[in-house]
Amino acid sequence: MKSGTIRVGVLGAGAWAQGAHIPGWQRDPRCTIVAICDVERERAAECARRFTIPHATDDWQAVVSRPDVDVIDIVTPSHTHYELATAALDAGKHVLCEKPVASNFRETRKAAETAKAKSLKTKLGFTFRYSPGVRYAKELIDQGFVGTPFIFNGYEQNSQWLDPQTPLRQVNPDADQSVIQVSSLENYGAPVIDLSHWWVGADYAQVVGTMRNFIPQRMVRATGRMMRMNIDDGDLYLAEYTNGALASIQTSFVTVGNYPGIEARLYGEKGAIICRLIEEFGKAETIKIATPDAVEFVEREIPARFYPRGGSNNESWRSLFYANLIANFLDEIIDDVPSQGDFTDGAWVQDAINAVELSFRERRWVPLPLER
Ligand SMILES: NC(=O)c1ccc[n+]([C@@H]2O[C@H](COP(=O)([O-])OP(=O)(O)OC[C@H]3O[C@@H](n4cnc5c(N)ncnc54)[C@H](O)[C@@H]3O)[C@@H](O)[C@H]2O)c1
Repeated sequence: MKSGTIRVGVLGAGAWAQGAHIPGWQRDPRCTIVAICDVERERAAECARRFTIPHATDDWQAVVSRPDVDVIDIVTPSHTHYELATAALDAGKHVLCEKPVASNFRETRKAAETAKAKSLKTKLGFTFRYSPGVRYAKELIDQGFVGTPFIFNGYEQNSQWLDPQTPLRQVNPDADQSVIQVSSLENYGAPVIDLSHWWVGADYAQVVGTMRNFIPQRMVRATGRMMRMNIDDGDLYLAEYTNGALASIQTSFVTVGNYPGIEARLYGEKGAIICRLIEEFGKAETIKIATPDAVEFVEREIPARFYPRGGSNNESWRSLFYANLIANFLDEIIDDVPSQGDFTDGAWVQDAINAVELSFRERRWVPLPLER
């Protein structure tokens, strides 16, 4: 493969684009970023200077319609994803999109179907599928280490918005504040819900869940003032899988702890695995395992083959996990290896999120899949 062959246009030059996406693309010699776009023109220009990107613009349509661009990377606020992803697919581009594609599983499914019909590759920002520890765990699961899975426990929690003065983004300040809005469940929950599906290898049969607004008044970036924000800043649900396994999932951005805050545990008839993706004492993550005849959990070293070029467990999780995600997407585009973590997986995750919300609103177990 000639170096720099896959040409990428990035939409959004904010914190996550600069901290994870752009460093990921630039670490892989098989691609090159040809354009950066932000509706804030100066932010795009500054980002182009910082990362030596040849073209900066505030016109996303111009980037999406460029004939020399193969991949559109969407790192914009969540409410813009569906419009941008649909436009990119319509223009015949492969798409990497931050989660969620849309807050409604039907729209996510529609985008997945469009991509399939056009033989285009898609990938969602399910960052934690690509941690070296989680990938190692998946290999162990596939080799039969856990045996029949019994129980999955997933957590995505940290204290990012415990302080009400920390400006809140990705929220709609004009929403009806008498009704709690889904927030942590979707923005934090999606990647660990994805892991609950990927590791156990079965669909949910039904879910029951609840959510809570713990901190009522917050500083909101879009308005620049303290205001009532009735958002879910903590939630819990139970799931029963079609294969008989059980799951519990807990997400929150007001629970004390460091980033990113994932813990995934799988217990089965032959063994158990605990992955802890929480930056602590200079390490990005740990993986521990136990078996019925050695019940004390021992830490396993993550084999070097799960790390991206030049990566180690002492690197920031942001660039480390994203480098793996982007390398995997390039494998899918260039070598046509089977897709994973794509819009179809995104639609499954969104179905689960929408079902947990319905369960909370109607105070009942909700069967899955939801009505198409
Ligand atoms: N996967 C993960 O672990 C993870 C982590 C952090 C953020 N995210 C997601 O990444 C996305 C971006 O988050 P962020 O923290 O970088 O936000 P941000 O607000 O810092 O950056 C978003 C940028 O997009 C720009 N923008 C808005 N509309 C645009 C458009 N139509 N075209 C081009 N640019 C546009 C904004 O001006 C802003 O600069 C969000 O969806 C967020 O949920 C994912």
